[in-house]
Parts: sequence; structure tokens; C-alpha cells
Amino acid sequence: MLVRVGNKKKWFTASWLEGSAVHMIDQRLLLFRFKIVALKTHKETAEAIRNMTVRGAGSIGAAAAFACAQAVLECRQKDWPKKALKGFERIANTRPTARDLFFAIERIKRAVDGKTLKEAKELAVQEAKIISREYQVRGKRIGEHGSKLLKHRARVLTHCNAGWLALHDWGSALAPIYIAKRQRKKVFVFVDETRPRLQGAKLTAWELANEGIEHAIIADNAAGFFMQHNEIDLCVVGADRIANNGDVANKIGTYEKAVLARENGVPFYVAAPTSTFDFNCRSGKHIPIEERSEQEVLLVTGYCRGLHNVRIAPKKSKALNPAFDVTPAKYIKGIITEHGIIKPKRSSIKKLARKCRK
Ligand code: MRU
Repeated sequence: MLVRVGNKKKWFTASWLEGSAVHMIDQRLLLFRFKIVALKTHKETAEAIRNMTVRGAGSIGAAAAFACAQAVLECRQKDWPKKALKGFERIANTRPTARDLFFAIERIKRAVDGKTLKEAKELAVQEAKIISREYQVRGKRIGEHGSKLLKHRARVLTHCNAGWLALHDWGSALAPIYIAKRQRKKVFVFVDETRPRLQGAKLTAWELANEGIEHAIIADNAAGFFMQHNEIDLCVVGADRIANNGDVANKIGTYEKAVLARENGVPFYVAAPTSTFDFNCRSGKHIPIEERSEQEVLLVTGYCRGLHNVRIAPKKSKALNPAFDVTPAKYIKGIITEHGIIKPKRSSIKKLARKCRK
């Protein structure tokens, strides 16, 4: 997406490969600073995925693909392929919920399997670049299909950040809004702030402001109020993993928004590329949910000549911090994919799986 840096506008994706170094926007510093970091080894890139320098399912997938390519490039004849496989394992152990992480690792594994080291180095880099490019195309198609749901002056609620920072290059949930804007439709976005890490207030609001799209940040617990007062026409959220019965894991808080939407007659859509579908997962019950540090709940991070953490709860209090929840399929009106909008049910997802195998 085009980003204004200083007085120039430049096109950025969340991460990219230059030689053997992975470059990425440090999303922990946004909106306060726009900083690119360069990661020279697969270990550094894996750590950047773990500590959320890069985050959002699709961008995690692309970064994981680049990290796998680095792991192959770091091999010498005597340790190929053992060292690379160990690297892939390290990358797989960074974030458990995002299906795209495993999708990307499996793709690179398949591309280099049984190859000589020389061939593998070339193929791993090539495949990682293809995966990143595919995300750009998938996001744009999701945007084109999803934009049909948005009328001129539509009022949309979204949760967390499923924009271009989270999925190269258009995003998933925000892609329909970006495309609608290019179709000259006006859209107003209600942005859930998304406690505890505030991806909505920090990243989604930053993306929308950068694109000149009208929006307002709302406290997470205000969504019901606006739905009840008929101020929201539809909800669109992203996904981190979708089971083959249509249950969707997404950022914590998504489930309650979906229940509120049902109660208030607001259609609730999920936008995700097919790489986010876990075709072997029977239901949401089987999706691993990442537990993150309680510090994310007990402290808030702000910027004043550098990033600072401020405690907002008693020293003796503990916190619980599941990073995702599962929205049962019955609350979801449709899933917007690059192949079109499908029903969240086994038969439609089976059909989609067949398309992906082709
Ligand atoms: O923990 P994060 O920030 O990596 O979580 C991912 C998300 O931002 C969302 O859950 C999002 O809606 C799906 S990512 C396209």
C-alpha cells in the first residue's frame, strides 16, 4: 500500500526479501514510528514473528516463507537438509494459531524436498517470493468480491487489524473497504480498539487514516451500543484459522461481536484467503489458541520519546490473556475468499478445498 513517509509516498508491503535479508515494517512501533528492520538470519526472522514485529495471519505466512528460505540459504553441504528442517521447526514454534504460518512452511518444505542444496536455495527463495506475491493477489480478489457487500455510505465494524499490514498487500477484512473507496463509494468504519495489544486503535486506524477513509475508534465494549442504535450496517473481520465446518478463530473479542451482531440483526462476515483454511481441522474445538503474556493485559504501551509500558492494574493482580477466540459458524453470514463469498459450512469448504488442490 502507498504510505506517506516524510513528504514522499512509497509502496510498502509488510515484509520482503532483499538478498538473504528479510525486511519488515516494525509493527510494534506503529503508529508512533515508521521503521523498517532488516533481519539477517532465519533465527532473527522467527523471533520477529514471535515478538510480533510482524503480525496478522497472512503477513506471518509471508514472513515465515522468507524465514524458511533463509534457513535453506544458511545450510552448507554437510548439514543439508538437517539444519534447514531444524530451522523450519523453530519457525513453526513461533505462533500456534495462525494457519498461514504452517501453510507457508509446508509450501517451502515441498518445494525443496529431495533437491540438491544448490537447487533448494534457488527454489526456496523463488517459492517464498511466489507466496508473498500470491497474498497480494488473494487480498485484491477478496477486496473485489467483498466490495459488492458495501453500498455507498455503508457503515462497517471491524475488529483487530486485518488490513495490508496483516496480509500483503490489500488485507482481508479491510480489502473490500479499500476497493470500495476506489469505486468511489464512501464507507465509514467503526474500529474496535482491540485490547490488549490495541491492533485496532494503533494499526487499523493508522491504515485507514493513511488511505483517507473516515473512521472512529470505539472501545471494545461499545460495539453493542452502536449495533443497538442501528449505526452499523455490517461487520467484517479477518481470520487466523478456519476449520472445515466454518468455525473461525480470530482475535479475542470477535466471538462476542458476532453474537451481538446476531442479536441486533447485523450481518457478520469473515474475510480470509484460502491459505487460512485448515482443511483437516474438523471444528473450532480443535484450533490451538495462543496464550500470551499477562503483561500485555496489565501494562499499556505508549510512546513518549521512545516506547514505554505503564502499569494499569494492582501489582498483586494476575491476568489471563488468550489471544484468539472461536466464532461458531452459525453466527457467520459468509466467508469472503479470493474465490468468492462462500457459506460457512462443510460442503462449501469441501468444494473450496478441491479448488485449492487444482
Ligand atoms: O495477534 P495478531 O495481531 O497476529 O492477530 C491477528 C489479527 O490481527 C487478527 O486476528 C486478524 O483479524 C486476522 S489476520 C489477517
